[in-house]
Amino acid sequence: MSKAVIRPANEADAPAIARVHFDSWVDTYGSLFPPRVFDEFSLESREKLWRRTAAVARGQPASRIELLVAEDVDTVLGFVSLGPFREGEGGQGDGTMATPAVANDRGELNAIYLAPTCLRRGLGRSLFDAGRGWLREAGFADMRLWVLTGNPAVFFYRSMGGMLVDEKTFELHGITLSEQCYRFDL
Ligand SMILES: CC(C)(COP(=O)(O)OP(=O)(O)OC[C@H]1O[C@@H](n2cnc3c(N)ncnc32)[C@H](O)[C@@H]1OP(=O)(O)O)[C@@H](O)C(=O)NCCC(=O)NCCS
Repeated sequence: MSKAVIRPANEADAPAIARVHFDSWVDTYGSLFPPRVFDEFSLESREKLWRRTAAVARGQPASRIELLVAEDVDTVLGFVSLGPFREGEGGQGDGTMATPAVANDRGELNAIYLAPTCLRRGLGRSLFDAGRGWLREAGFADMRLWVLTGNPAVFFYRSMGGMLVDEKTFELHGITLSEQCYRFDL
C-alpha cells in the first residue's frame, strides 16, 4: 500500500507533473507509437498544459475539472486529470465516436500517469479512487476513459471494475492504432 498523499495540484506543480507525464509516456508508448510521435511530445508542452489545467481547476469555485497529484515527501510521483467526458473524442481526439443521447453528465478520467519507478505499489489504485470520488462529489453520473489497445493499463482498468463500452481505430503517422473506452460506476 502506498503512503503517498493525494492532493489538488497547483500551478507550481506543473514542472513536476510534466516530468512524470513525459517519462511515463516514453516508457509506456515507446514500443506502441511510431517514433515520430516522440519528436512532437516535449516536456515544455506538457508543462504548459498542466499549468493551464491547474489554473482552471483552482481558479473557479465550482470547477468542472480537477487535477490531483500523489506526493511523497515533496516529490510528485503521479497525477490524475478529470473532467466532463469529451463526446466524440478518444485520447487521440479524431471525433469518430457516435455521440450518445445522454451526454452532459458523464465524467472522464482524462489521464493517469505514475513515474515509471512507482508502478504496481497500489499508487495507481489510490489516485484512481480519489479521481472517481471527485467525479462523484462533483455530480457526474459515471466515469469513462480511453486507453490504447495494448497498453498494460487495460488490465489495471479491468481490475478497477471497468466495462468495455466502445472501441475505435485512429491513424497516427500512417499507422493504424486502436483504443478502447471503459465505463465505471461512481
Ligand atoms: C496504469 C497505472 C496508473 C496503474 O497504477 P499502478 O500503481 O501500477 O497499479 P496498482 O498497483 O494500483 O494496481 C492495482 C491492480 O491493477 C492490476 N494491474 C495493475 N497494473 C497491471 C499490469 N501491468 N498487468 C496486470 N494487472 C495490473 C492488478 O490487479 C493490481 O493489483 P495487484 O498489484 O494487487 O495485483 C500505472 O501502471 C501507470 O502509470 N502506467 C503507465 C501510464 C499509463 O499507461 N497510464 C494510463 C494511460 S490510459
